[in-house]
Amino acid sequence: MIKVGIVIASTRPGRVGEDVGRWVLDVARRHAGAHYELVDLRDYDLPQLDEPIPALMGGYSQPHTIRWANKVGSLDAFVFVTPEYNHGVPGALKNALDFVYAEWVDKAAGFVGYGMEGAGRAIAHLRNTMAALGIADVRHHAALLMHHDFVDFTKLAPQPHQEDAVVAVLDDVIAWGTALRPLRQT
Ligand SMILES: Cc1cc2nc3c(=O)[nH]c(=O)nc-3n(C[C@H](O)[C@H](O)[C@H](O)COP(=O)(O)O)c2cc1C
Repeated sequence: MIKVGIVIASTRPGRVGEDVGRWVLDVARRHAGAHYELVDLRDYDLPQLDEPIPALMGGYSQPHTIRWANKVGSLDAFVFVTPEYNHGVPGALKNALDFVYAEWVDKAAGFVGYGMEGAGRAIAHLRNTMAALGIADVRHHAALLMHHDFVDFTKLAPQPHQEDAVVAVLDDVIAWGTALRPLRQT
């Protein structure tokens, strides 16, 4: 079975992203089909990109980069659990994506967005970045709405159909993450 990282993209104090990430992990573990783990960007404490050489060229110089590269490299596929900040990707996630390169290539990714309108613009923005990193981004995404899937905009209470939406993302990610395995082995 492939290994899927469920990436919590928000790092701010008071974030709801951790609850969303843990809920996605719970849905995933009940769905099975892959090994799943949470990857909380907060645990990697990445500074603003401080590598002198672009990641595409390799040669990581900083211990935090190598630690992050090892984690990304250990996984076959990703589910990015992301809010939308000012109609775009949260800076912490974009920074983490930019830090390494080879470790992303030929992997699969899906998205669980949350926000006033489901973070569709952040996900669209992420899809552009996936192309640059050689990540195959899958068709389905889940979109949790602050008005319907949270109480008081802070307490996660997903509508029942949201679990099906997450499962659709997982099915896509497992299929493509598995199909791309031969490319990752070359
Ligand atoms: C800097 C910032 C910008 C935001 N911009 C948007 C936005 O563009 N669209 C949206 O739906 N919600 C926006 N929000 C509201 C977030 O959806 C909401 O705060 C959510 O809880 C953020 O996720 P987090 O708590 O995991 O960080 C923004 C929140 C912050 C902190």
